[in-house]
Amino acid sequence: ARVSAVLSCASLQMKNMDKEVKRSRLAEQLYKHYASTAIPKGIHCLSLRLTDEYSSNAHARKQLPPPELLPLLSDNSFQHYILASDNILAASVVVSSTVRSSSVPEKVVFHVITDKKTYPGMHSWFALNSVSPAIVEVKGVHQFDWLTRENVPVLEAIENHRGVRNHYHGDHGTVSSASDNPRVLASKLQARSPKYISLLNHLRIYLPELFPSLNKVVFLDDDIVVQRDLSPLWEIDLEGKVNGAVETCRGEDNWVMSKRFRTYFNFSHPVIDRSLDPDECAWAYGMNIFDLEAWRKTNIRDTYHFWLKENLKAGLTLWKFGTLPPALIAFRGHVHGIDPSWHMLGLGYQESTDIESVKKAAVIHYNGQCKPWLDIAFKNLQPFWTKHVNYSNDFIRNCHILEPLYDR
Ligand SMILES: *[C@@H]1O[C@H](CO)[C@@H](O)[C@H](O)[C@H]1NC(C)=O
Ligand SMILES: *[C@@H]1O[C@H](CO)[C@@H](O)[C@H](O)[C@H]1NC(C)=O
Repeated sequence: ARVSAVLSCASLQMKNMDKEVKRSRLAEQLYKHYASTAIPKGIHCLSLRLTDEYSSNAHARKQLPPPELLPLLSDNSFQHYILASDNILAASVVVSSTVRSSSVPEKVVFHVITDKKTYPGMHSWFALNSVSPAIVEVKGVHQFDWLTRENVPVLEAIENHRGVRNHYHGDHGTVSSASDNPRVLASKLQARSPKYISLLNHLRIYLPELFPSLNKVVFLDDDIVVQRDLSPLWEIDLEGKVNGAVETCRGEDNWVMSKRFRTYFNFSHPVIDRSLDPDECAWAYGMNIFDLEAWRKTNIRDTYHFWLKENLKAGLTLWKFGTLPPALIAFRGHVHGIDPSWHMLGLGYQESTDIESVKKAAVIHYNGQCKPWLDIAFKNLQPFWTKHVNYSNDFIRNCHILEPLYDR
């Protein structure tokens, strides 16, 4: 029997089992699950096979986009989307759902950024699966001249920092002590993932430098699905602000819409207490429209670096891990709140998400731990994602990535 079958997120809500037994059992299973299948086998297989294809098939290596379309990559009359991911299947869903939902697919340009290891596979995928008339470019972080140790000193420091290593790779005691609450455990395990200290995650803070000729871009996370035309985002008047984002302190959903600075920062720490207001409204990453021209006139990047250093100095006690807290500080005064219907957050935390709202949202964001590509995905939310996976694609079939069967 597949261990993972037991691990449906829905089982977190089983009511009849003795509470304590249930909790510790689920915690144990979740721990194992996250340790062993952080990258599901099928997705890993896809990456390996596509990497193989890159070396054996000239079509998989063909230039993306073709040379005659290269000028469009820096043409500001197009809609530029940026996606940073090491998950090829997730990236394919983001790109196809965006293109499929667009009223002007011929104006869509995707810049997909990935790490060095995933580059050949990611390139193969988009070389072999055209989303024409939209244009896709695939870049590895190693291909940006700007990303040097000099320009990104703090990240280097963070990745080598002993505290971080222990935080992520040692000291299992902290995690098991959280095992009385499976959901807390799952989020701790998620925070331990190397993904959260990778350059790909911090990359968005360098957009103005990485895309020096672009004026306005939409940055998408890889755990989203686009369901509506996003063209109007480019028309929103950001009133001189840099970051168009959905604010997460106003709204009906008590789970998602209760995020203020006190949610993210340690206000018992004097450095935080004297610098920040606990009541300040937070906002979300996942789908942001960035005005890079306005951004270039600010010192957002320096502020971000400054606070990463402060957190290191404080032994990582200023905030829990993640890339949002330093961004919340760095973008202070530079955020323009956009209508929440643009970006629905909170999928993958609980089964009871309102399906009618999911259907209506322009972008849905599976920012909870139950990602739609995992076995533990909520079955009621998964179809919004799987409908953009091409299950008849040979690579997907050969990696036994199967369309989930829903019993209804
Ligand atoms: C918050 O800051 C205080 C004061 O430095 C510290 O004692 C505490 O451990 C910190 N909390 C966390 C969760 O890091
Ligand atoms: C799905 O994949 C098949 C086989 O590779 C291809 O022929 C078809 O066009 C794809 N469908 C879509 C919607 O991309």
